[in-house]
Amino acid sequence: MKKRLGILISGRGSNFEAIADNAASGIIDAEVAVVIANRPEARGLESARQRGLNAVCLPSKGLDREIYDRQIVEELRKNSVDLVCLAGFMRLLSAGFIREFPNRILNIHPSLLPAFPGLDAQHQALAHGVKFTGCTVHFVDQDLDAGPIVMQAVVPVQDKDTVDTLSGRILEAEHEIYSRAINIVLDGSYRIEGRRVLLSDDLRG
Ligand code: GAR
Repeated sequence: MKKRLGILISGRGSNFEAIADNAASGIIDAEVAVVIANRPEARGLESARQRGLNAVCLPSKGLDREIYDRQIVEELRKNSVDLVCLAGFMRLLSAGFIREFPNRILNIHPSLLPAFPGLDAQHQALAHGVKFTGCTVHFVDQDLDAGPIVMQAVVPVQDKDTVDTLSGRILEAEHEIYSRAINIVLDGSYRIEGRRVLLSDDLRG
């Protein structure tokens, strides 16, 4: 049986779309079971509906974190989700949520972590003057943008870059590595030693 993905979004949803396209074409060996947005205006919700996917809005505004997270976990369980993918989901998860899906929650972040966690990572990179930045797919733990790293891609910074141009190139890399990381995690072809996610030989390189 195909593995089932639960994708959490807050906005545009381009990472969700890349995952959904790759699942539809077989590049990812899984199906999108549910897409959940915490904001009714999240553009990705409409895109999910247009694709005929199960799109659910659970507004988080004004709700206590534990109570809200229980709603999400319930929705994910109802849809028998094997792997949770945060795709521009701009909320910290509670310990209760993380305990429900041990090593089964991934996030994508637009920097080479541990550099530039938190908001506006691309702006932070430009402001710091780094010559290379990129993106990171990592397991989610209780700390912000901090869990073991599954995959990273490097994006050179150009002198003429603005936040928009840099973000655009990072986003292209995000769309590529998120699907590859999802396949690795679903396949189980890795082990975690301390903070290190070590890939099986046949997947390296
Ligand atoms: C992406 O760049 C993602 O890496 C970032 O938000 C954007 C969402 O775009 N996530 C974070 O900064 C999380 N800390 P999308 O909605 O088009 O996928």
